[in-house]
Amino acid sequence: MSKANNTNGNTKTMEMPRADMGLSGDAVENVVSTLTQALADIQVLYVKTLNVHWNIVDPSFYGIHILLDEQYNALKADGDAVAERIRGYGVPVIGSMGEFLEQTRLKEKAGGQTVGIEALGELVADHETIIRQLRKDIDSCDEEYGDQGAADLLTGQLQKHQDMAWMLRSFLPKS
Ligand SMILES: [Fe+2]
Repeated sequence: MSKANNTNGNTKTMEMPRADMGLSGDAVENVVSTLTQALADIQVLYVKTLNVHWNIVDPSFYGIHILLDEQYNALKADGDAVAERIRGYGVPVIGSMGEFLEQTRLKEKAGGQTVGIEALGELVADHETIIRQLRKDIDSCDEEYGDQGAADLLTGQLQKHQDMAWMLRSFLPKS
């Protein structure tokens, strides 16, 4: 709940109308918490992907640079979609780097230096961390919280992370 001054200088309460979507209050709280962590993971991976896009040094630089351009733009759109879904429940959404870092399951990586092809392996590992987490979250949203819409959104996200990880793996040396 937030407060704002009206034109008379009096304080009035600005309360968001809660959406009535056939979900209990607890279910909404749990789904929003799940989506918030998913959003934080996307935002951190977005920045990590940009970091590699800028700092990669490799004989395949151009192809990697272009691929990562596509991927950070896709992640930006994905984060936007998740954030706006959270707003659809009638609650505010986190929006600062500090808040994303508090909520993410990923580890940040410093920039300021060039990186080699192994940096793509680190991005793959992050996508896989997200994919494993999303499998649990999809089940929880559907079976525990009864929110098929959230489960569907996260299923779409899972498929996108699988595709991005596959593209990245194609540049890694065969083990
Ligand atoms: Fe660029």
